[in-house]
Amino acid sequence: MLTQKLAVVTGAARGLGLAVARDLAAAGCLVVMVGRKAEAIEDAARQLREKGHEVLPHTADVTDAGAVAALAARLRREFGRVDILVNNAGVFLERKDFAQPQAGSVLVVDPEMVAATYACNALAPLRLIQAIVPLMRESGGGRIVNVSSGMGQLSDMGGSWPGYRMSKAALNALTVLTAAELAESSIKVNSVCPGWCQTAMGGKEATRSVDEGAKGIVWAALLPENGPSGGFFRDGQPIEW
Ligand SMILES: NC(=O)c1ccc[n+]([C@@H]2O[C@H](COP(=O)([O-])OP(=O)(O)OC[C@H]3O[C@@H](n4cnc5c(N)ncnc54)[C@H](OP(=O)(O)O)[C@@H]3O)[C@@H](O)[C@H]2O)c1
Repeated sequence: MLTQKLAVVTGAARGLGLAVARDLAAAGCLVVMVGRKAEAIEDAARQLREKGHEVLPHTADVTDAGAVAALAARLRREFGRVDILVNNAGVFLERKDFAQPQAGSVLVVDPEMVAATYACNALAPLRLIQAIVPLMRESGGGRIVNVSSGMGQLSDMGGSWPGYRMSKAALNALTVLTAAELAESSIKVNSVCPGWCQTAMGGKEATRSVDEGAKGIVWAALLPENGPSGGFFRDGQPIEW
């Protein structure tokens, strides 16, 4: 049985997920990097291994129930434990430019696009939690980080980008529900907003570097036993739902 912490990071081939995988490995975890494109995730893992990090690639589309089950089976078979789950994989499927007046309107948004956004941003984390919490219980505890967004805050729910906003609000609900059910366990569940970061999703105009955004996610992944659960954080500080 593995003695070091086993961390699973989804969407780890690039952007925030790659930086989180690197930083958790640097903190001493063995990190299973999950990505949907085999070549990309293997390449990303190889790059981190060349820098001395202990990481392993795993190819899975997190919206595929069979692929999530196969991931959980591999984790059980090869490592027998999971200590950290970072639900980072996410998509932003709606158009970013609002040249067309109603492009971002909830009144005209394509429900199929909203469903596809939910599938990755909210339902996949649900499936991963269902698949991995049993292993965490057997490992004696764990940390679950749902990588959310300020755009999912009900307290700041302006117009625009309804698919993404609703998916992240649903993800936040998942955080609260899961934390409540696991309140008596040593498993902590939190949502983290990384801020607006320079990734393929955030774009070049974003105000924060990938490394800055990753920090708050890693903070929640490495919380001590007396750390919070069921909260929403940015840079380690609570923010409103
Ligand atoms: N960047 C920001 O400003 C910002 C702000 C707030 C929250 N966030 C959140 O932070 C997280 C990471 O975003 P990012 O900015 O790093 O975006 P990114 O550069 O677009 O990376 C997203 C990652 O998720 C992966 N992914 C997407 N769908 C997947 C699926 N079905 N199965 C497995 N992997 C999948 C992508 O894989 P492929 O390479 O195969 O597409 C990619 O590796 C997301 O949840 C996002 O919503 C980002």
